Amino acid sequence: MAIRIDGKLMSAQVLDDVATDAAAFYQEFGIKPGLAVVLVGDDPASQVYVRNKIARATECGINSFKHRLPADTTQEYLDRLVADLNADPEVHGILVQLPLPAHLDEERILTAIDPAKDVDGFHPVNVGALNIGKESLIPCTPQGCMIMLRKVLGDLSGKHAVVVGRSNIVGKPMAALLLQANCTVSIVHSRTNNPQLLTKQADILVAAVGKPEMIGPDWVKPGAVVIDVGINTVERAGQYKLVGDVHYAAVEPLTQAITPVPGGVGPMTIACLMKNTLTAARRLET
Ligand code: GUN
Repeated sequence: MAIRIDGKLMSAQVLDDVATDAAAFYQEFGIKPGLAVVLVGDDPASQVYVRNKIARATECGINSFKHRLPADTTQEYLDRLVADLNADPEVHGILVQLPLPAHLDEERILTAIDPAKDVDGFHPVNVGALNIGKESLIPCTPQGCMIMLRKVLGDLSGKHAVVVGRSNIVGKPMAALLLQANCTVSIVHSRTNNPQLLTKQADILVAAVGKPEMIGPDWVKPGAVVIDVGINTVERAGQYKLVGDVHYAAVEPLTQAITPVPGGVGPMTIACLMKNTLTAARRLET
């Protein structure tokens, strides 16, 4: 029987530790760790994500500052807001929810955030630090995936890990973390010839492509550990349903362990955001 990796349960443990740390931080410094979340426009999925982030922050004793801006917000306004948040001593972490409306320059905004407050780990300074194994703020989703992998497998040394997808948010930092953990890492993407040839060799398979149920049993080696980062909304018989990038029902019987969608990677991402906020707060105050 495959292990169903329970992201909700594991995230509760991470959040518990964060709450303890946040209370100790308050005792020590007389202020709560603070997280600013910026949401531009009306993307419904982003609204749900932001609401969840703020709810989790409140539960673990982190102050949150929500900035909800209209879809026609100018670049200048957003630049100014980020500069103000960089200078605000009550704000230890800054998250600008992606995607931004098309007229805004995503790279410019992510680069404007103070790397010390970059709880997403998307600033080039943090990306660079991660890739040379220096202390940094680590992107939340791959960080959450690593916690789950270590819980299931312990030491990851020598495992062949295959990451499907090469986004800056998940695929690339995931590959960097797996490499740092001494895995042999392959990255498979839309231009890879014969991708299954590689994924079929994976001891660890991480799917982060955003294509509903793309990974079927013919992509998976028996006994693999499968981490499904995808969150895709599909319509089935007139009902909306969340599915991952992995065809769970077909793949699960083959695996040693697998994450479900929902209830797998998603809750871990938010828990790691809280963890990063605490890390940033401690580094900024000490
Ligand atoms: N949109 C989807 N995932 C993320 C994330 O991890 N961080 C931010 N800022 N936006 C996102």
